[in-house]
Amino acid sequence: MSRRQSKIIGKSPQIVKIRELINQVAGTNLNVLICGESGVGKELVAQELYLRSPRATKPFVKINCAAIPRELLESELFGYSKGAFTGASHDKPGKFEMANQGVLFLDEIGDMPLELQAKLLQVLQDGQFSRLGSPKDLKVDTWIMAATNQDLEENIRKGTFREDLYYRLNIIKIYIPPLRERKEDIGLLISHFYKEFRKEYPKTRFQLTREIREYLEDYPWPGNVRELRNVVQRLVILRDWQTLKAELDLRRQEGPREQETAAAPASGVQEKKEVDGQEEVGVFLPLKEVKRRAIEEAERKAILSVLHKTNWNRRKAAEILQISYKALLYKIKQHQITSS
Ligand SMILES: Nc1ncnc2c1ncn2[C@@H]1O[C@H](COP(=O)(O)OP(=O)(O)OP(=O)(O)O)[C@@H](O)[C@H]1O
Ligand SMILES: [Mg+2]
Repeated sequence: MSRRQSKIIGKSPQIVKIRELINQVAGTNLNVLICGESGVGKELVAQELYLRSPRATKPFVKINCAAIPRELLESELFGYSKGAFTGASHDKPGKFEMANQGVLFLDEIGDMPLELQAKLLQVLQDGQFSRLGSPKDLKVDTWIMAATNQDLEENIRKGTFREDLYYRLNIIKIYIPPLRERKEDIGLLISHFYKEFRKEYPKTRFQLTREIREYLEDYPWPGNVRELRNVVQRLVILRDWQTLKAELDLRRQEGPREQETAAAPASGVQEKKEVDGQEEVGVFLPLKEVKRRAIEEAERKAILSVLHKTNWNRRKAAEILQISYKALLYKIKQHQITSS
């Protein structure tokens, strides 16, 4: 088993435990179910298990059950033989076959359609399957890992996930808690990504100050490690801390509201409501549009407040905002900011 350093950064008791569990499980073929919110590192954990296992020299094959249309998912998984359906002009192996002797990572398993769950269960039970349109039984030796950000037990209650499949997959469960519940990892992750991006962009003049660090260490990170990585990358490249801070402040205030909006129809039907005599716009806007407006508003506010502070000294304001003088003039015009 590999002695290399773990790629999973963190010193919280939860992450220390996960690293230990990975070492114990990596030598086995027990099915693993990895759960946790989006961006917590589920795929990273799957890769770490694989890299530490004797299968590390064999393929790691991933299939995202949410990204592939349901009609295609079955043939992607199990393959097909020539003539199995219109357009099947040649034999094609599925991901199960490709993962022979290696790992099959079923990402977003909570989105797998029920019919396919039945077929998957059968394969897991007797290790046999056939390509679509082929009578030949195939047997492969694959280590199954699955991941989800959904509550599968709740899905079982709702009838959208099979209980028997759940127990088959859930032999070893690895739950990765959200970053806000393991704040002691944030500092290490910031340093880690900062180093990574300084190496990637050696010409950057960005300096991670104590103020930025303290702010980021206290931020709740609804998008977890992925969001943190993106933020550090953006800071190293764009050096726009003031704008970014305004955006993060806003996201912090509006967090729960964004979730409400997520449930709104995707059709983009715009509805305006009167609440206490005030027009409430945006509740039924598509999430993307809500985000765009929130970011614009945050940017406008940040620029305005710096202009006030500098008594409308635009050169100084541009310096503080870490954008060029020309860019500031453009933004003042774009946001129709006036000194009155
Ligand atoms: N503990 C960690 N140490 C170092 N990097 C991490 C850690 N956790 C996550 N990352 C990094 O954060 C990013 C997101 O992780 P990953 O893709 O594994 O998340 P996920 O849980 O699969 O997200 P999603 O549910 O959205 O698919 C990746 O770039 C990954 O390398
Ligand atoms: Mg993932």
